[in-house]
Amino acid sequence: MRTTTTVAAALMAIGLAAAALPAQAQQARYLAANCANCHGTDGRSAGGGGMPGLAGLSATYFVEQMKAFREGKRQATIMHQIAKGYTDEQIVALADYFSKQQPQK
Ligand code: HEC
Repeated sequence: MRTTTTVAAALMAIGLAAAALPAQAQQARYLAANCANCHGTDGRSAGGGGMPGLAGLSATYFVEQMKAFREGKRQATIMHQIAKGYTDEQIVALADYFSKQQPQK
């Protein structure tokens, strides 16, 4: 009886741990969807209108640019306004997500 309880508890713990990761990845995907209108699905800009693609950008470069936009250190038409809506943690999650996407060939 006790063994059954322990096993059930262990299974539940594993289940929770396994569910946590995809949930995080899923959240980055939701955040990234806010960028798709301009930068293309998953940051794969079709290149029209000179819109930069985000797919495959180095995470370091990405974070630097987002912070530069947010702090007004990089000139922008729109990104300085958009960048203000994201926390450092969200920017890191976005950087990670986009760095793992394949750019448009
Ligand atoms: C309304 C259109 C629009 C949306 C939505 C948008 N961007 Fe941008 N993004 C731009 C434009 C335009 C530029 C070029 C800089 C500028 O003029 O603002 C840019 C540039 C960038 C750059 C710099 C790319 C480089 O190669 O240096 C990054 C990084 C970026 N955007 C990230 C994002 C992220 C992350 C989101 C979603 C949270 C997002 N953008 C949403 C229009 C947009």
